[in-house]
Amino acid sequence: MQPPKDQVKSRERVSAFGEVFTAEREVNAMLDLVKPETERVDSRFLEPACGTGNFLAEILRRKLVAAKRQSVPPRTGKPHPAEFERLSVTAVSSLYGVDLMADNVEACRERLYAIWDGQYEAICKGEASAECRGAVRFILRRNIVCGNALTLMRVDENQQDTSEPIVFSEWSFPFNDTRMQRRDFSFAELLSSAKVEENIRKTGQGDLFADENGEVKPTFLKQYISDYRRVQDYGD
Ligand SMILES: C[S@@+](CC[C@H](N)C(=O)[O-])C[C@H]1O[C@@H](n2cnc3c(N)ncnc32)[C@H](O)[C@@H]1O
Repeated sequence: MQPPKDQVKSRERVSAFGEVFTAEREVNAMLDLVKPETERVDSRFLEPACGTGNFLAEILRRKLVAAKRQSVPPRTGKPHPAEFERLSVTAVSSLYGVDLMADNVEACRERLYAIWDGQYEAICKGEASAECRGAVRFILRRNIVCGNALTLMRVDENQQDTSEPIVFSEWSFPFNDTRMQRRDFSFAELLSSAKVEENIRKTGQGDLFADENGEVKPTFLKQYISDYRRVQDYGD
């Protein structure tokens, strides 16, 4: 039986890259298996063959609902714009994807951005800023990578490995203020960190950047600290 049209782009792509997108019903059913994680603003998800982001998009939607709920101060009933902004940036920064096809990667970034911006505009209204939008675009450019999830290298426009390894940034708020820390790790280093790998292999889950005790073992390449609305100032 042929998959429905919105799940394939062409026969050639199906046979060359196994490109069949997952339908919404299956996406939701699978995500419901780890529902509490999908509703936790800062839980990290990596999709190693993300396509146009069917899973990541739904996870972001769920996380933004949680961010909205959490940003309502007691007895007000209305989300606090600054709090929603910070939580929604946390939500975006927790999502990672890799795909071989540059058009899928671009579509995935745009799709996640549009979902985030729709909520950002609706909740922050006049307090929404171009700076924060630039930060989210930057984070998505870093987190959704055009690469080969098997060789862990970036690829060119013909899906051939380049000499550049895939690098992921760990984003966090370690100081309890608006400063965001970015630490870059090579994907190969993250996967070779024994305890992290063991945990992911055993359970299918685990934090990319930490072992089961929450300790970060892998060695990072670079570290940056800035206000979260200015993460783009350091460039790549
Ligand atoms: C079956 S589709 C699934 C897409 C998405 N996960 C979904 O469920 O809708 C597989 C995707 O993997 C990508 N892909 C195939 N081989 C890959 C590789 N070695 N590294 C990264 N992506 C790959 C294809 O380009 C395609 O987008």
